[in-house]
Amino acid sequence: MNSAPQTHLSVPQSSTQIVPIALDEGQRGYDILIGSGLLDAESSWQGLPKAAAALIVSNETVAPLYQERLWAQLQAHYARVDAVQLPDGEQYKDWASLNRVFDHLLASASDRKTVLFALGGGVIGDMTGFAASIYMRGVPFVQVPTTLLAQVDSSVGGKTAINHPLGKNMLGAFYQPARVIADLDTLDSLPQRELSAGLAEVIKYGPIADASFLDWIEVNLEALLARDKAALAYAVKRCCEIKAWVVGQDEREQGLRAILNFGHTFGHAIETGLGYGEWLHGEAVGCGMVMASALSVRLGLMPEEFLPRMRRLIERAGLPVTGPKLGVERYLELMRVDKKSEGGAIRFVLIEGLGRAGMHAAPDDWVGQVLDAHCA
Ligand code: NAD
Ligand code: GLY
Repeated sequence: MNSAPQTHLSVPQSSTQIVPIALDEGQRGYDILIGSGLLDAESSWQGLPKAAAALIVSNETVAPLYQERLWAQLQAHYARVDAVQLPDGEQYKDWASLNRVFDHLLASASDRKTVLFALGGGVIGDMTGFAASIYMRGVPFVQVPTTLLAQVDSSVGGKTAINHPLGKNMLGAFYQPARVIADLDTLDSLPQRELSAGLAEVIKYGPIADASFLDWIEVNLEALLARDKAALAYAVKRCCEIKAWVVGQDEREQGLRAILNFGHTFGHAIETGLGYGEWLHGEAVGCGMVMASALSVRLGLMPEEFLPRMRRLIERAGLPVTGPKLGVERYLELMRVDKKSEGGAIRFVLIEGLGRAGMHAAPDDWVGQVLDAHCA
């Protein structure tokens, strides 16, 4: 991470921040706007792709909170602004919900320039991006993330997907947004459990890419949990910088980008094994990071003290650190369906040193020992 700026242990003062994503050595790219009041700021919405129509895709929880304000801004730029509301929940991240977007687009004769606006968390963002990637072979879309998880991770980098009953995010496309507009004020209405879920992805960036950011999170966790705006602004910016650095080098996950999946192999197994929506994605990732930290220690990649350090931080963030007892065989079966698996062999993102991660295989019985020790 030589090119990324230093992490400060104190919280720097916040104003609107712009983190650029540069793809194809700067030939392609877009900006992530981070700050307070962005939803109502005219400047947030200027310079987006021109079109006759825009479609806001949201859900029944987020739309009543923020859709009217987004609508008011978009009316200045598009002759027609429509909206479609999907049911709320990970269990609705499926073909049926996706089809409701297409039903709406086709019934209103929306053309191939129509711009989609994803207003919501990662579920809405992933589904809207996937819809945009295949409607008329691709229309532009803009991410307006309203959860911490979506602001630090899912809205950035162009992974779009829906779930299949047999595997999480198994159907999707790499498809980049035209802009990401992360208004920190939308986090004011987020339930505390969802804030904690977002913190899982924030914590992730420390061990995989920036040891001093891990120190910073440990010092500033209470401020983040209390939604201190300056702390949130710094965390969202730092996570987006790291993600931009990774995605800029490996947009389609040929190698490096896999590090962003630290904790996800175990986590996706928990989500799929329990049924989507039982545990929040961030909760499963938090617990998965405890398991992946234990495996990093078991393989001798990290010293013993790394595991209690990670477990303590994840617990302090309000996340579960003990997994559901699905049974070792069931976990292994679920993890073989992971996108990182090759020829049925499970590959884990493990920590190789603070701020450094890589892909590793592990003997099934060692993985079983980790699961036995961390499930109840
Ligand atoms: P989510 O989208 O389900 O949102 C969480 C809950 O908060 C929902 O009930 C939602 O309606 C509600 N909500 C959203 N914004 C709100 C607000 N401002 N105020 C009040 N309530 C609000 O969940 P999430 O944690 O945002 O995202 C999880 C999803 O993201 C998973 O499907 C995961 O696979 C995906 N993901 C994708 C990527 C990627 O790179 N594309 C990365 C990480 C996660
Ligand atoms: N959240 C994992 C990735 O974007 O690659």
